[in-house]
Amino acid sequence: MCGIVGYIGSEKAAAPFLLDGLKRLEYRGYDSAGISLVNSSGHILTVKSIGKVVHLEQKCQSIQCSDMYAGIAHTRWATHGAPSENNAHPHLSGSGKFAVVHNGIIENYSELRKRLSMAGHKFVSDTDTEVIPHLIEEFYNGDFAAAVTGAVQQLSGTYGIAVLCADYPDMMITARHGSPIVIGLAGNANMVASDVTALVSYTRDVLYLNDDEMAIITPSHVEVRTINNVPVTREVSRISWDVSADGKGTFEHFMLKEIYEQPESVGNAIRGRIDLKAGNAKLSGLDLTPREMALINRIVVAACGSSFHAGLLGTYYFEDISGIPASVEQAAEFRYRNPIIEPNTLVLPISQSGETADTLAAVREAVNKGAIVAAICNVVGSTIARESGRGIYLHAGSEISVASTKAFTCQVAVLLMLALLLGRNRRMNHETGTELSQEIMRIPSLIQEVLKQAPTIEAIAKKHANAHDLFYIGRGCLYPAALEGALKLKEISYVHAEGYQAAELKHGPIALLDEHVPVVALCNDIPGKDKMLGNIQECRARQSPVIAVVTGDDDCCAPFTEDIIRVPASSRFVAPITTVVALQLFAYYFAKERGCEIDQPRNLAKSVTVE
Ligand code: AGP
Repeated sequence: MCGIVGYIGSEKAAAPFLLDGLKRLEYRGYDSAGISLVNSSGHILTVKSIGKVVHLEQKCQSIQCSDMYAGIAHTRWATHGAPSENNAHPHLSGSGKFAVVHNGIIENYSELRKRLSMAGHKFVSDTDTEVIPHLIEEFYNGDFAAAVTGAVQQLSGTYGIAVLCADYPDMMITARHGSPIVIGLAGNANMVASDVTALVSYTRDVLYLNDDEMAIITPSHVEVRTINNVPVTREVSRISWDVSADGKGTFEHFMLKEIYEQPESVGNAIRGRIDLKAGNAKLSGLDLTPREMALINRIVVAACGSSFHAGLLGTYYFEDISGIPASVEQAAEFRYRNPIIEPNTLVLPISQSGETADTLAAVREAVNKGAIVAAICNVVGSTIARESGRGIYLHAGSEISVASTKAFTCQVAVLLMLALLLGRNRRMNHETGTELSQEIMRIPSLIQEVLKQAPTIEAIAKKHANAHDLFYIGRGCLYPAALEGALKLKEISYVHAEGYQAAELKHGPIALLDEHVPVVALCNDIPGKDKMLGNIQECRARQSPVIAVVTGDDDCCAPFTEDIIRVPASSRFVAPITTVVALQLFAYYFAKERGCEIDQPRNLAKSVTVE
C-alpha cells in the first residue's frame, strides 16, 4: 500500500535517496508516484507520474537537483480517485508553499473540503489528502510547526504524513495517527519513512513515532512532541535484523525465492525455541509465567488474509494439542462486533507486516478490554508488535512478494510451538511433548523434500493453467491449507479459486462442478483420509479433473487421477505446512504459465494500512 519517504541533509543527496527509497517500497503495491524537493531559496519543485517509480525517475532526470537539501516522496495505492498525476502525492497547498505526502484515509475530508472551499481554497484532485496542505496553509502565520499542529488536530481518520514548507527549506515535519512513521538518524542527515525497509541501507538507528506524535526534523536534529505540544523523549532503536531486499538472486521472482527460502526461514523461526530434553517450547517474548499460562481459559486469534488462515490452523492446534477453547476472527469483524473478552482470554493478533490496519484496530480493542495480547509478527518494531507489548517474532526475514509464503509457514510453526508450550503447561506429558518437539524440528527438512517435487508440480500446474475456476478441498488441519492454497492461486493468477471443507462441498458448491472445474483435493494420510476419498469420488462423478495431494507413495488417488503431488509423511499437525508449500509452487507455476505479474499482482498491496 502507499509508501512515504522523506530526507533532509546534504546537497544533492535528497533526490537520489528519495527515488531509491521509493524503489525499496515498490513491493508494497502502488499505482503512481511523486516527489517534492525544496531548495534553499524556498522553491518547491514537484514531479509526479503514473505507474512505476522508474517512470518518475526518468522524469526527474531533467530537473536540476543541485540545490535540494530536503524532499518528500510517495507511492500511492488509489483509494479516493483513480490513479492519475493529479491524484498522485505530494499534494500542494493553493499557494504552493506546502507539500504533503500522506498514508491513511482522512474520514472527514468532504466536510473539511467544503469548509476550505467556502474560504476560497481551490482543489485539483479527487483525494482526501489534498485537504491537509490546504488546512496547514489556513493555519499558517509564519510558524510551520504550529500550522501542522493546528491542521492535524482537525483530522479524523488515519494519517502518517511528511510535510515540507517553502519558507523552511531546512525543516521537515512528520506526524502520525494510525499509519506508521519511522525516522532514520544518519549523522549528517535525517530521514522519514512509512516502512523501515526504505531506510535500512542508510542507517540502522531509528525513532518510531507513536500515534498522535509529530517530529520536527532538521539535518542535525529531531524533536519529538505530541500533536498537543507535549515534549516526548524517545529512545533510539537499533535495527539488528536484515530487512534489505537482497535481490532475487538466481530466481525469476521474489515469490519463488521466498518459497525456496522456507527450510531456512522456518529453521530460523524454531531455532533455540525447542527444548528436546524437556519436550517443550521456549517462547521468551510471550513473557508469561507458567501460572499465568495456566489461567488462560480461551484463545482468540485476530488476523487477515494468509495470517487468518494460519490463525485458523492455530485454533485446531490450541484445541487439539493444548486443550484450550480457541477461535479465529477476521480482524475487522472482531473489532466492530463488540467481542466478549474476559481477563483470562489470550488474544493473538497475527500479522506479517505488523501494520495491517484492521489487525491493529483489533489489538487496540483487545488491549482496551483487558485481554492478554501477544502478537505474532514478522516485522520487528512494527506497530502491532509494539502496541501488543508481548509476542513472538517469526524471524522469517523480509518478505517482498505480495503473496505471503514464508511468513505463512513461519506463523504456523510458531503457533505449533505455542500450542506445545501451552499443552505442556496443562495435560500433555513429557513423552507426547518430546514427540511433537521432534516433529517440529523436522519441518525444515520436510519442506526441502517438497521443494524437490517442483518439476512435477510445475507440469501439473501448466496442464491446468487454462482453468477459470478451481476448488480446493481439505478436512481437519488440511482445511486451512485448502483456503491458503486457493488464496495463493487467486492472488497471483487472477483465476477464481475457493477453499472448502471437503464435507461442505455437497451442500451447495458441488452444483458448480463439471469437466472444466478442477478440484485440488488434499488427501494426505491423516485422520479423515477415507472420507476424503469418498469426496474425490463425488467430484469425479461430476467429471471434475482432480489434482490430489497425497502422502509419500500412497496410491489411494491413482484410480481417480494421474495428477498427484506427493508430500512426505508427517503428523497431521505438520501436514498443512508441507501441503501449503506444494500449493504455493502450484499457484506460482500456474500464474507463470498465464503470464501474470507475480510479485506485484494487480490491485493488491503488501501491507494493508487502511480499514
Ligand atoms: C497474503 O498472500 C496476502 N497478501 C494478504 O492476505 C495478507 O496475508 C493480509 O493482508 C494480512 O497481512 P499481514 O499478515 O501483514 O497482516
